[in-house]
Amino acid sequence: MKTETELRELLASLTLEEKVGQLVQLSGEFFSDDEGLKTGPTQKLGIDPTMVELAGSVLNVAGAEKTRAVQEAYLAKSRHKIPLLFMNDVVYGCKTVLPIPLGFAASWDPDLVRECYAGAAEEARAMGIHVTFAPMLDLVRDARWGRSLESTGEDPWLTSVYARAMVEGLQGDDLARAGIASCIKHFAGYGAVEAGRDYNTVDMSERRLREMYLPPYRAAVEAGCRAVMPSFNVIDEVPSTANTWLLRDVLRGEWGFDGAVVTDYAAISELVPHGVAADDAEAARLALEAGVDVDMKTACYANNLCDLVRSGAVDEALVDEACLRVLTLKNDLGLFDDPYRGASPAEEERTFLTDEKRARARKLADESIVLLKNEHDLLPLDPQGEGRIALIGPYAASHALIGLWAVQGDPASVPTLAEALTEIAGDRVTCAQGSPYLVDESSLGFFGRSGAGDAAWDEDSLGALREEALAVARKADVVIMALGEHPMESGEGGSKADLRLPAIQRELLRAVHALGKPVVGVIFSGRTPVLSDIAPWCDALIEAWFPGTEGTHALADILFGVVNPSGRTAMTFPYATGQEPLYYNAFNTGRPEKTSGHTNRFTSRYVDCPTDPLYPFGYGLSYTTFAYENLRASSETLTADGTLEVSVDVTNTGRMAGDEVVQLYVRDLVGSVVRPVKELKGFERVHLEPGERRTVSFTIDEPMLRFWRRDLTFGSEPGAFEVMVGPHSAEVQTLPFTLVA
Ligand code: BGC
Repeated sequence: MKTETELRELLASLTLEEKVGQLVQLSGEFFSDDEGLKTGPTQKLGIDPTMVELAGSVLNVAGAEKTRAVQEAYLAKSRHKIPLLFMNDVVYGCKTVLPIPLGFAASWDPDLVRECYAGAAEEARAMGIHVTFAPMLDLVRDARWGRSLESTGEDPWLTSVYARAMVEGLQGDDLARAGIASCIKHFAGYGAVEAGRDYNTVDMSERRLREMYLPPYRAAVEAGCRAVMPSFNVIDEVPSTANTWLLRDVLRGEWGFDGAVVTDYAAISELVPHGVAADDAEAARLALEAGVDVDMKTACYANNLCDLVRSGAVDEALVDEACLRVLTLKNDLGLFDDPYRGASPAEEERTFLTDEKRARARKLADESIVLLKNEHDLLPLDPQGEGRIALIGPYAASHALIGLWAVQGDPASVPTLAEALTEIAGDRVTCAQGSPYLVDESSLGFFGRSGAGDAAWDEDSLGALREEALAVARKADVVIMALGEHPMESGEGGSKADLRLPAIQRELLRAVHALGKPVVGVIFSGRTPVLSDIAPWCDALIEAWFPGTEGTHALADILFGVVNPSGRTAMTFPYATGQEPLYYNAFNTGRPEKTSGHTNRFTSRYVDCPTDPLYPFGYGLSYTTFAYENLRASSETLTADGTLEVSVDVTNTGRMAGDEVVQLYVRDLVGSVVRPVKELKGFERVHLEPGERRTVSFTIDEPMLRFWRRDLTFGSEPGAFEVMVGPHSAEVQTLPFTLVA
């Protein structure tokens, strides 16, 4: 490791071009195993080949052999032997793919998430990846946004808990020895794009931003994340990539962040179409002045910064500052001691998809899957029974179960649901596709290895698929419908204006339901879809998300009762698309639908749809039942330096052992600004044997009650509060208490 003085000496020995080079990040096509650096795509970006040779980091090159070869060729040409930094998207698992974040958020198990992320970092490190563009910490309250998939849901506090766990898991205690650096994203507020349309405008008050959207990023900064990626969107009409207030005042000034700021893909050049820069040179100046250190995948820094400095338009001290941050990151990663950081095919062999990692991913999937409905205890199915099981739907024999952003994962190696069910129930299971995911995939575009299918479905082939499935269903005693969104209907660029499942699948479900057999719906999706026209046709309903490498094993265990479901959704399931954005921690309004004194027409509601969601935040069923009794508090008042103990007795009143996620909410009844009707402040996942009773206690103190007050100071306000405890946000028991000054 170099000392700070040595790093500064190194900086001082670099030419302006070399310093700017450190700020340039290019993608894999600029590099090849045998030749080191290529010139072909250089012309496309318009970067001078010498600048390509000086580029300080590369994105999306992975694999020990490849990264070693690129590093070796790069260092051979490098005057100062400053190693190249390899950055990659290891978003939710690496080779061992975890459930999508929106899925594992339903686990309410940050400790397990931390362990799983440490495993992902180990696999990534073996491949030669140094920094991951993760975790994604964008709070999302609108399921139309495709990137809901990458988020841990709608709650700022829960997302902050996961933020810490993910950063700690990825980075470990000593970055030089283990782990990879975390570049959190997308700073800030990207989840609030208007109408849920990707890359769209964000407009909100500073109060809302600070209250709801900033806390998760801040939690990650406090957990020591080494890098931050600004978001594509505007904040107060300024794109984040050029937002000095956001990047310098808030991130560095208020929060004390001293790591590297790395743009999102091509974001500096996008300042031009955004309309805040006339050309790439101006865009480069704005970004550098705003505090952006690394330019991902544009020629803006590479082609303009040297001239801008030489003409006096940009202060060289800004280039020095940014370059030093990049050098510091490389140093902290241990790259000056070992530019390969131990990456090797042998390490890959040792770390990829180990039994331990698979077991953890499976446990996380067990805890992520949410049982939404279970009429007449249809589930679990009897693993020893004789009944015939029809497994029908586009996801019945699909391997596309890892979601859009698992770029290192291999879908082909994920067992299909049919295979996983057959492992338990053998030839009782018969499978039929029934329908494609979508009839017309032409609007989906391409993403990495995924792309829209080219099958042109005509009426005859659709009819034949359906008839085959109905014939299978007729012979069955129970039908499992494996339905969901096309894998490309969520993730980046996967925004939707209609959150229902594709019509072809809804029609198939109706036709199967009409046969009168018990139906279990299993839904695969990267968001909380509208299921109000699915649920009535299913006796039991499960949200499986995209459950990852071990997801179908987890699902099979849940369907057959080997595992009792315990996932609790971290994002509201809307009743209809038009309700979005929809979230539990909303304001009461002056005319709340259920309690307003106004006649019901003139209350805050819809005339064509319920106001409530289909399934609320925190919701999920179990094969057993839990009773909540005797909610009590240690006092009716809380003082500024005191604590309040809140306890409840939770009993497993059913016949199966199970986990319950006991949730704690608080409401500030009167504030200088309006406060949410509920805010999550705590939870505990408890395991209870049948008949077992456990007292679950939470401690409330004054810091938990702080918020951004009317004058935009952060603090609490004395007065009346409510504390609520229950199994989900819409079913709670309530106690009043008073905060005294
Ligand atoms: C995404 C980022 C990602 C980057 C690099 C962008 O399009 O917005 O989340 O990290 O690409 O792959």
